[in-house]
Formats: sequence, structure tokens, C-alpha cells
Amino acid sequence: MDIKQIFENNKKWIAKQLQGDPAYFDKLGAGQSPEILYIGCSDSRVTAEEVMGLQPGEVFVHRNIANMVPNTDLNSMSVINYAVGSLKVNHIVICGHYGCGGVLAAMQQSDLGILNPWLRNIRDVYRIHREELDSITDEGEKYKRLVELNVQEQCINVIKTAEVQKANSERNLKVYGWVFDIHSGELIDLKIDFEEILKDITKIYKIV
Ligand code: CO
Repeated sequence: MDIKQIFENNKKWIAKQLQGDPAYFDKLGAGQSPEILYIGCSDSRVTAEEVMGLQPGEVFVHRNIANMVPNTDLNSMSVINYAVGSLKVNHIVICGHYGCGGVLAAMQQSDLGILNPWLRNIRDVYRIHREELDSITDEGEKYKRLVELNVQEQCINVIKTAEVQKANSERNLKVYGWVFDIHSGELIDLKIDFEEILKDITKIYKIV
């Protein structure tokens, strides 16, 4: 790829935006008030705004390898804190995707250096759901299920934070678990039943 092409693309994009709305950049420059926080994978095929059909300014985005929300990760914790506490988003989406390289790496025996502690969080998801995952004999199906269960566990990690608990009781902030199917382009709502999942653990994680 010729990097110079990107600047050409940018000029064309500016012209196109201004053609649609001459005040487009005045509006962008005025500030942001997104209603959604999207936490997804860094995978180049899973673009946040594009797959949701949203425009700049409509979604606050955080992406990392395998859409993780580790409890001690300052990066994702800061994003959640700012999005919920300052931007006042009312929806938080964790979006995983089938064919996730991070999840696949966590299913294999290999030393990946600095990625080891990051992927260990996914190995922990496997351990928590070992019974269900080990009962799936088809490797492809097991892989897909781990992608889904990882989304579910990251949603739980989001719910463990004080900001989210506070916003949930004050303004009914909601958390959603989705998966993007890279083979069909479909965005799938996992319809995670948080009440069912949290009924036994709320007491443990409730902080506000
Ligand atoms: Co991925």
C-alpha cells in the first residue's frame, strides 16, 4: 500500500462530507455526545462504526486484542470511566467476532511472550466454562463458543466496575454482548441474560 494514497483518500473524504453537509466539520469540532461505548477487537476486519452503520460522533470506541476488559487494565478501565462518568453513555457493547486470532491463540499451547498475560485472561474464561467447552467435540464449534463466552465474561468485567454499577442504578445503563460474524457480516446479539448470570455473583461484586 502506498501511504501517500491515504492523504488523497482523506481529501476526497473531506470533499464528500462537505458536499453532504457544509457544516459537517463545524459540528464535529463542536464536541461529542455519543450514547454508546463500543469495546471490540483490533482485528482489521471488524470496524466499529461501519458494521453498526453509525457516523463519527455517535460511538465512543475502544479496541484491543480479543475485546478484553481485564480488571487491572488501566486502558480499558479509563475508557469505561470516562465514557460512563463524563460522556454519560447509556449503552455499553462488548463485541467479539468469530475467527478471532486472539481467542484461537489462547486455545493453543504456544509461548507468545508479552501476549501471554493478555491471552491468559481468555484461558481463564476457558477454565470457568471448561465443562461446557470440553463437551463440544467439533473444534470449530468450540472455538465459536469460546468467542461468545469470552464476550460474556468481558461483559461481567464491565459490570464489576463502580462507574457502571452506579450508572445502572441511577439511569439504567445497559450492557450488551454481541458477536460479529466475519463470514456473513452479521452482527449477532448474544442476548446475555445478566440477571440470571449475576444473581449468584452480584453480592460478591457489588461495590456501590
Ligand atoms: Co479478534
